[in-house]
Amino acid sequence: MAYSEKVMDHFANPRNVGELAGANGIGEVGNSKCGDIMRMYIKVENNIIQDVSFKTFGCGAAIATSSMATELIKGKTIEEALQLTNSAVMEALDGLPPVKVHCSVLAEQAIKAALKNYYENQGIDPTPFIGEIPECHHDHGDSCGCGSCE
Ligand code: FES
Repeated sequence: MAYSEKVMDHFANPRNVGELAGANGIGEVGNSKCGDIMRMYIKVENNIIQDVSFKTFGCGAAIATSSMATELIKGKTIEEALQLTNSAVMEALDGLPPVKVHCSVLAEQAIKAALKNYYENQGIDPTPFIGEIPECHHDHGDSCGCGSCE
């Protein structure tokens, strides 16, 4: 399966890359399947994601999905951002090859990790809002349902 035009566009011209000055939530997650890392920065004011950016060591699919994910949550409420799934990001990009689905999980998890950090910075327990961010503890080849392994 070839990459869609949208994937190629977001890979070649990623939106919202780099550190974010004034970020009040920073989340970092790793992908157990490939070992790549994603860091997400968010700036929340009045429950709205005013700004967001990302940095990744991930592959082109990770760059494209993170770019799209940041565009999808910018200007949205925290509740809306928490509902963003990797499937919705892939849909917005007109799909990804099956072997690259795990890359899209990084963006979803990094957003949740950044929002978790935001709540912690506010002195609020994030668990009721975010729950547990699934982390994969399995070796490659196993599946624990975290989304990173299959
Ligand atoms: Fe690691 Fe895509 S192969 S994020």
